[in-house]
Amino acid sequence: MTREGTSTLIRREDYLAPAFWIRKVELCFDLDPLKTIVTSKMQVERNAAVAHGPLKLHGEEINVLRVLINGESVSFRTEDDTLVIDNAPDADFALEIRNTCCPEKNTALSGLYTSGGSFFTQCEAEGFRRITYFLDRPDVMAVYTVLMRADKTKYPVLLSNGNLVEQGELDNNRHFAKWHDPFPKPSYLFALVAGDLVAREQRVRTRGGKDHLLQVFVRRGDLEKTEHAMNSLIASMVWDEARFKLPLDLERFMVVGVSDFNMGAMENKGLNIFNTSALLASPATSTDADFSRIESIVAHEYFHNWTGNRVTCRDWFQLSLKEGLTVFRDQEFSMDMAAAPSARAVCRIQDVRQLRAMQFPEDSGAMAHPVRPDSYVEINNFYTATVYEKGAEVVRMYQTLVGRAGFEKGMTLYFERHDGQAVTCDDFAQAMADANPGSELTKRLDAFKRWYSTPGTPRVTARGSYDAISRTYTLTLSQQNNGAAPQVIPVAMGLIGHGGQVLPLELQGEAEYHGNERVLVLDQAEQSFTFLNVFVEPVPSLLRGFSAPVLLDDGLSDADLLTLLTHDTDAFNRWEAGQRLALNRILAAVRSGTPLQLDAAYVDAMRSVLNHPQLDAAFKELALTLPGEAYIAEQLDVVDPQAIHAAVEAAQLQLAQALRADWVAAFEANGTIAGGYQPDPVSVGKRSLANLALAMLVLDTQAADAAVWQGRAYQRFKDAGNMTDRLGALAALVNGGAGLADSALERFHALFKADPLVVDKWFALQGRAPEREGRTFAKVKALLKHPDFTLKNPNRARSLIFSLCMFNPAAFHRADAAGYVFWADQVLALDAINPQVAGRLARAMDRWTTLTEPYRPAALEAIRRVAAKPDLSPDVREIVERALASGS
Ligand code: TRP
Ligand code: ZN
Repeated sequence: MTREGTSTLIRREDYLAPAFWIRKVELCFDLDPLKTIVTSKMQVERNAAVAHGPLKLHGEEINVLRVLINGESVSFRTEDDTLVIDNAPDADFALEIRNTCCPEKNTALSGLYTSGGSFFTQCEAEGFRRITYFLDRPDVMAVYTVLMRADKTKYPVLLSNGNLVEQGELDNNRHFAKWHDPFPKPSYLFALVAGDLVAREQRVRTRGGKDHLLQVFVRRGDLEKTEHAMNSLIASMVWDEARFKLPLDLERFMVVGVSDFNMGAMENKGLNIFNTSALLASPATSTDADFSRIESIVAHEYFHNWTGNRVTCRDWFQLSLKEGLTVFRDQEFSMDMAAAPSARAVCRIQDVRQLRAMQFPEDSGAMAHPVRPDSYVEINNFYTATVYEKGAEVVRMYQTLVGRAGFEKGMTLYFERHDGQAVTCDDFAQAMADANPGSELTKRLDAFKRWYSTPGTPRVTARGSYDAISRTYTLTLSQQNNGAAPQVIPVAMGLIGHGGQVLPLELQGEAEYHGNERVLVLDQAEQSFTFLNVFVEPVPSLLRGFSAPVLLDDGLSDADLLTLLTHDTDAFNRWEAGQRLALNRILAAVRSGTPLQLDAAYVDAMRSVLNHPQLDAAFKELALTLPGEAYIAEQLDVVDPQAIHAAVEAAQLQLAQALRADWVAAFEANGTIAGGYQPDPVSVGKRSLANLALAMLVLDTQAADAAVWQGRAYQRFKDAGNMTDRLGALAALVNGGAGLADSALERFHALFKADPLVVDKWFALQGRAPEREGRTFAKVKALLKHPDFTLKNPNRARSLIFSLCMFNPAAFHRADAAGYVFWADQVLALDAINPQVAGRLARAMDRWTTLTEPYRPAALEAIRRVAAKPDLSPDVREIVERALASGS
């Protein structure tokens, strides 16, 4: 494959409105896997606000057949990925372009491609230009009419955005369908699907009395796995109307599953396309985590219909305008679905754990960028944890600063002002501020907006001092952000007495006590807050619910943390206190280079949590799970991945040994649930704690009853009534290095070899297995040759290769550099097939500069080897060049 066009840096400050608008487009597809003919008839007008110039359309990997203006052929040039018409008329005109493309050879899965014999499209961010020449930018919005023609036997179902207006028979066993989408949209929201699919259907009536048809299309045989997605879709509709008064604006809303897909799912107007991994669920083949992920992705894409589609982005620098906001909305939805306060806290803890594992490392590594980036080479590289998850935290801070009702007012004003427009993050901020005059946000809007422009995770330091004589408690908060101007940081907090009492709060300047929680707004480099009439020395509980995406140093002692772990009324901070106790111990061992030895105080605290009569199983599981290795690495200037892993493994084993009787009790209490499988929060919590307990019981191979628990795990693996229990038991055997692991793996594969999503789990489990004398790494290399393995399917590539390179640091970072050689080989192999997925894998080296010897020079050599390849995609080139730049 040769690559034309040089990589250019696109800058946010260079934004120019388009020289032309395309108001309407009629597309006609003669679908054929090897040569699809596309005819596009566009209604074009000059943008009066922009100086005259040629019409330049984007196009990639397509062959133009003819170009007509007002029915007459016209002279044009094609120069690297653009089609230029120098003599476009001044008056409005009709532009017709006919071209071909080859869906069958489209392994990049961007544009029009085939998967399992059907046709699918993926146009975000810049895939539409791989279908036909167009102004492929989000601020050009057109009304689409789409005519599809295809073989009736192979492609009985023909779908596109909007409403079906006509369908019928053609000769040669072909048929056609015509779709019309009344809402103007950018080209990235265009979609079509053609294939032999079946649908689950549901008619629903919304509050306003309108009837809608919901459809979930999948391959024959997968229909029974669509019930959960359909339920999630209905729940999302109900929620968006109730919480934000946002109704479904279409008569028909379609969701389609495809097994070859670069990401989770895509919000095409009225025709969402999903990776089957984010859509199909059954108790026998999907875990609780799958059910929950499907619920939130279905909701996420549905919510985009307003936040993204009705109001879209002016340019791709504004990506977080739709993604951060929509992630926030799906997080809120999941919390509301979880309902009980403790289940809501579990959702929040999981979201924060994800943010810390993925976004914090990103924000301090080679790819660090602001929520609203200033430049990019390849926009696909900026669908990141920063744009999505940190973006969602920024939206959450608006809500914290203006309150829930104020946030809803802000949303209403945003849609009043911008419905049907392509806008910027500034427009969103302004709507929030204008809807909430006098609020903590509006008072300091410009400073708040630094969250969009400042990369890096702010560090907040908090120190308290208690004056027993004056009964005052002064809390001094300071922030550092790599020298950047101070951010606006909402610090939700409360004070707890050492005996566990919740203390009432009276800030200096207030007349009397009111309430026991406050949101302090830190917007200076340093600020002090004084509380009056504090009768006992308090322990501060800061950043409750993780009220800002920062790293907090609160200087709390073990005794303080134990107080919070036991008594804090904020469940998030109870969990956080336990994590901090673990983190302190792991960091001490890693820093001193001595083996980790857990102390009785910590072990006893964990025992109390595990045996606590009131705490939920879900919370116990989270509290007893140690901090992730990536997050631990973020606390260190120089990283030895093997030392971190050794400390975490030691801590795990000691918890397994010291609490063995308690793990047995936890397993017995939670291991069996009466009735059929339900993915409700209580059952999910019980299964997760049972799985953790089982893993702990199998982990200690020296225990007197080790063989008994291996046997029980194997039995449970064989007899499990659902995938959560089955995979949990299998993971316990594999991760525990049990003798029965290999036979269990074999059995699992034999049972599920016909189900690709389960085979993915089988590969992923082996890719993530703890390293033991190089056996995991050797196994992964051997699995590359397994008949079920292929790089062409992104889910499969991720299941094995990403599992090793991104989620198994101890197996990946090897003294002999073989992990890095493997990475370079796979990045190059993937780049020839699918640059987007290759670009993701390239990011495994984002944090190479912090590695200790011998890893750092070996990593550099591998990155240089990739960078030396002359015809890299812009995707991979941008990532490896940023990696190299971060080391100089
Ligand atoms: N907009 C999609 C979402 O977040 C993301 C997405 C799906 C995507 N497929 C893509 C982004 C391909 C880039 C390329 O819901
Ligand atoms: Zn999204």
